[in-house]
Amino acid sequence: PPGTRYEAENATISQGAVESNHAGFSGTGFVNGDNVAGSYTEWTVSGVAGAATLRVRYANGTTTSRPATIAVNGSTVTRDFPGTGAWSTWATASLPVTLNAGSNAIRITATTANGNPNLDYIEV
Ligand code: GCU
Ligand code: CA
Repeated sequence: PPGTRYEAENATISQGAVESNHAGFSGTGFVNGDNVAGSYTEWTVSGVAGAATLRVRYANGTTTSRPATIAVNGSTVTRDFPGTGAWSTWATASLPVTLNAGSNAIRITATTANGNPNLDYIEV
């Protein structure tokens, strides 16, 4: 099942802005994070304790992969977000996560000076 969708434009943004100038996004826009290491978007999602699949919809209109750390309640993995061909071409990355019952913090943080890919939403 796709889970519940949490739009990036409703998340907490550190060093970035909600924009809508590239088509194909869900909701009212996407997050364009500043192109610096450390910029992040953080969602608060409600969960049921146990294993779940996190899906991240993103676009990277460059040909350079944009690695990011994905922290779920402080447990961190690094993930590459390869080029999608255009800023208006969106792709979905999936990874396994472990959720707590109740509130969960999911933060995607850029690890290079290129910043994060543009972020549309997560589903979990
Ligand atoms: C372009 C694009 C932005 C993107 C940025 C980037 O400016 O319009 O949506 O975020 O490149 O390289 O991160
Ligand atoms: Ca950007």
